[in-house]
Amino acid sequence: MSTASAAQQIWDDVDAYFTDLLSLNDEVLTETLRESEAAGLPPIYVAPNQGKLLHLFARIQGARRILEIGTLGGYSTIWLGRALPENGRLITLEYDAKHAEVARRNLERAGLDAITEVRVGPALESLPKLADENQEPFDLVFIDADKVNNPNYVEWALKLTRPGSLIIVDNVVRGGQVTDTGGDDPAVRGTRAALELIASHPKLDGTAVQTVGSKGYDGFALARVLD
Ligand code: SAH
Ligand code: DHB
Ligand code: MG
Repeated sequence: MSTASAAQQIWDDVDAYFTDLLSLNDEVLTETLRESEAAGLPPIYVAPNQGKLLHLFARIQGARRILEIGTLGGYSTIWLGRALPENGRLITLEYDAKHAEVARRNLERAGLDAITEVRVGPALESLPKLADENQEPFDLVFIDADKVNNPNYVEWALKLTRPGSLIIVDNVVRGGQVTDTGGDDPAVRGTRAALELIASHPKLDGTAVQTVGSKGYDGFALARVLD
């Protein structure tokens, strides 16, 4: 216990150092978190340096179209949205109408309301509707909602992307639960199924990475869509 909190203290200090040194905060982001907290949203948004990592992935990818599953207050959405060109598009799916409202206000303050769209409802209902619209494929998909559905979200991401697209899955470690709990937690089962899909799917080429920081001990999976 004391070891774990000593480690967390170091992780917090290093994340604070990086965040400050690399100027990863600004008024809009700070206000986004303040408003999210004031509205009672849980503090489960990505850390600033993780947000910047998502942003850089989108830039490296040259992404023009991004899909996010799990909006919360729009914090990760802002990081991703800021990577888009003026004619870019980001669609983010959120189950909770209150979260979506908070996110819309935050995206408006960020000046991203013209290129972002928050769609309310269970993602497994929004995704087939999105597919029916026959839009251009997404260049990047960020999966960060209910973990039990992670394999379904990876399957939908495959339908909605193109060869060369990037799929990112958040929270694949959860303090080590991914291998700890013998598979009886539905969230852990969902994440393991998503990882198994990435491992076995002929159209996916992926990896998974453990992370530590202000959000504790966690990790993400990354997969590139193949021809
Ligand atoms: N990506 C955000 C954090 C998302 S937290 C960030 O880093 O800033 C997960 C979000 O997924 C919550 O807002 C939750 O309401 C939403 N969610 C949970 N189940 C969902 C579902 N079935 N469909 C869509 N969103 C869901
Ligand atoms: C939880 C969800 C997240 O997306 C996250 O980054 C951290 C925690 C959660 O449901 O507890
Ligand atoms: Mg997450």
